Amino acid sequence: MEKLLVARDIVKFYGGVKVLDGVSLAIEDRDSIGLFGPNACGKTTFLKILAGIIEPDRGEVVRNGSIAMVFQDDKMVPWMDLVGNVAILLRLKGVSKSKATKIALEKLRMLDIERFSNMKPSQLSGGTLRKAAIARALTLEPKILLLDEPFTGIDEASRRSIKSLVRSLVTDQGISIIVTSHYIDDFRGLVDKVLFMSRAPARVIRVEHISNIVEDQIKNT
Ligand SMILES: Nc1ncnc2c1ncn2[C@@H]1O[C@H](COP(=O)(O)OP(=O)(O)O)[C@@H](O)[C@H]1O
Ligand SMILES: [Mg+2]
Repeated sequence: MEKLLVARDIVKFYGGVKVLDGVSLAIEDRDSIGLFGPNACGKTTFLKILAGIIEPDRGEVVRNGSIAMVFQDDKMVPWMDLVGNVAILLRLKGVSKSKATKIALEKLRMLDIERFSNMKPSQLSGGTLRKAAIARALTLEPKILLLDEPFTGIDEASRRSIKSLVRSLVTDQGISIIVTSHYIDDFRGLVDKVLFMSRAPARVIRVEHISNIVEDQIKNT
């Protein structure tokens, strides 16, 4: 089967400092992958390379499906309501307001936050805003969704709800996901496979099925 996304031996330097040291990854339909690694090991950099936002210095990325990324610090426009914020990427692409609004409402419903459509970001919780950022990425109808630390700064109840909503994107919508975290529990109930990254310059040091990961193994990485 043709892979949706392949990254081969990705190397990235920032100002002469090597951050990624030959990281590879292959994604198939409905794959769900966790990228686990310590702070500053290069997770965000790697996701941006997968998304085509930045170029690697060496290695190649082959994309056979559309990709959207949810950034860790995705911002909402304060003076626009939630549905306007979610529709914004489509509007920037020149989609008509009525069509963009219809698609945005559909994605808000999918994330179970349609009832907040007409509220301003300042009236909404961090969990709802994170779901809105996911809804916004979904308006691009990606085959692959990249989620950078989606649970950072989110309370436990929202974390559980975001997890099950994102999981259903894989199981019900057939979207593949790649999720980064430096906290292994974030991956449980969300992804099937975890790639362990080393400290920078990052390499993939181990790949495990989530069910094979036990806590005391992690201390050794
Ligand atoms: N645009 C940039 N210019 C220079 N250094 C950067 C840039 N982006 C990230 N870095 C550095 O690269 C390293 C990896 O960063 P990042 O990919 O954000 O790691 P992670 O997401 O795993 O925390 C860090 O040391 C960070 O400070
Ligand atoms: Mg990061």
